[in-house]
Amino acid sequence: MSERPTIAVLVSGSGSNLQAIIDASERGEIPCRVGIVISNKADAYGLARGKKHGIPTEVVDHKGFATREEFDARLVEVIRGSGADLVCLAGFMRILTPVIIRAFPNRILNIHPALLPSFPGTHGPGQALAYGVRFSGCTVHFLDEGVDTGPIVVQAIVPVYDDDTEDTLAARILVQEHRIYPMAIRLFFSGRLAFEGRKVKIRGEPKIPEFSHRNPDA
Ligand code: GRF
Repeated sequence: MSERPTIAVLVSGSGSNLQAIIDASERGEIPCRVGIVISNKADAYGLARGKKHGIPTEVVDHKGFATREEFDARLVEVIRGSGADLVCLAGFMRILTPVIIRAFPNRILNIHPALLPSFPGTHGPGQALAYGVRFSGCTVHFLDEGVDTGPIVVQAIVPVYDDDTEDTLAARILVQEHRIYPMAIRLFFSGRLAFEGRKVKIRGEPKIPEFSHRNPDA
């Protein structure tokens, strides 16, 4: 039996997206396994999640490096050492430099809790709420050298309600994050993704029949 490809997952916190990826892998829904969990924070719960599943973990504390570039160079070393075929940022709260982005071109995915290009950066759900949009959602995209600007692979939408708080909206979005991250990973390994300028095209993309959502639905 041939070895499954591996992914390196980078986390800074709870790691619920990491958990969704591990679960999808264990259920055979994605054709790869998590080969290493890396965190810039020694107390990130994501590390404990990895260990529970027998996955090697590594802490690379950004505070031990004088520059972002030196931190990123160490990340590159650790990721290369793990032999990962794909890098997934899952709640990894550091801005990465070209040092790592150029080391893994079109091989780094990120998840963002908003419908990019709207509301990039931090507090995506809070920004959406403050703006007054009726839909928000989440985006899995490849990393480029901007902040949350890279080619988009999958998006999911959720309604925004008048009585939402940042927390209730973020929780509604997180449910969808857990669905679309494994989906994006599956597409990555399917060989169906093609880059066309800044766009990702999906060969054999299924069309959604009569797609229409309104909010309010009155
Ligand atoms: C997610 O909302 C992700 O989009 C954002 O940080 C959160 C991480 O959640 N960047 P978790 O660590 O995967 O639970």
